[in-house]
Amino acid sequence: MTTGELSTSTAGRARLPESLRETLAGHYYTDPAIFHAEQERIFETGWFCAVHSADLTRPGQFETVQIGRESVLVTRARSGEIKAYLNVCRHRGARLCTEDEGEVRRSFQCPYHAWTYSLDGKLIAAPNLGAMDDIDRDEYGLHQVHVREWLGYAWLCLAEQPPSFEDTVIQDVTDRLGTPDAIVGYQVADLKLGRRIEYDVKANWKQIVENFMECYHCATIHPELTEVLPEFADGLAAQYFVGHGAEFGAGVEGFTVDGSAGLEKLPGVDEDQDRRYYAITVRPQVFINLVPDHVVFHRMFPLAPDRTLVRCDWLYLPEVVDSGADIDRSVELFHRVNQQDFDACERCQLAMDSRSYRDGGVLVPSEHHIGDFHDWVRKHIG
Ligand code: FES
Ligand code: FE
Repeated sequence: MTTGELSTSTAGRARLPESLRETLAGHYYTDPAIFHAEQERIFETGWFCAVHSADLTRPGQFETVQIGRESVLVTRARSGEIKAYLNVCRHRGARLCTEDEGEVRRSFQCPYHAWTYSLDGKLIAAPNLGAMDDIDRDEYGLHQVHVREWLGYAWLCLAEQPPSFEDTVIQDVTDRLGTPDAIVGYQVADLKLGRRIEYDVKANWKQIVENFMECYHCATIHPELTEVLPEFADGLAAQYFVGHGAEFGAGVEGFTVDGSAGLEKLPGVDEDQDRRYYAITVRPQVFINLVPDHVVFHRMFPLAPDRTLVRCDWLYLPEVVDSGADIDRSVELFHRVNQQDFDACERCQLAMDSRSYRDGGVLVPSEHHIGDFHDWVRKHIG
């Protein structure tokens, strides 16, 4: 390094050349106080994509998910609606369900003193409380969490007054694709899960968002992806030009690990979208990847400053999944991309407490849009 260009001293930050922007400082990725603020002011206030609706087909099926500091119980009620509650018994606060997923017949019973709640969250039985006349069943029901279903997923909001779903979640998709209708052709809500892989990533959730937002790393770490999408080798974050989908290479037949033919094309995908890949970041914790024959849908669950669980779903036409078609080559491409990306995130996470990164690093021009994400984080956590 030549002196005076990229010094990591505080004084050096002022000398950043015009072409560079600063990143967040290292402690943003390790400090429990920052993570606490993010839990409170980002994950517990906005819309959080929690559950694939098709995973809850029968009334009484449930999943528990971690959103910020809260465990949330998500289930399907008898009415067919998806409902979500804080996973806390109203009697003395016992965790109601400790399993990640399961199924009850008609109610949730607390294992401690057996207070029992309907699938609608109402308190329906409590031992030794006589005829239950003394207690307001609604008042002592489970605390409800707002639910909105979109793209086949249940998005939850813990805030009492949720922000507009249209102005946040749908706006992120619109900002990327140019129009809210552009995602319609993919009929994401009607697709069926072909494969799910979970990744337990030893990195802060923001590392994973930042990585997904740039393609500066593509030429270095994604040999298979850059074969299929040659423009990614140029390092430009093509996915951040509004409406721009990266085009498949000349000899590439499909979005597969070896560029061989993919599966049946989704019928609503129009000619402009054919042979193109679109990547969308929905803040704070979703990535959606659209290709002509399938959709790759990532949900992140931040568990600690240095640990994030990522659930990645590969979604196809139901008839493709039901036919037992071979989806391995199609899954393998993004599975490798995920492994390559998460290895890189873990490699960076190791250094976040180093004195070398105390003032952070730099964003080159093709990464400048990551600075907007940093501003968004700073604005939320104050
Ligand atoms: Fe749940 Fe007592 S804590 S019934
Ligand atoms: Fe990548």
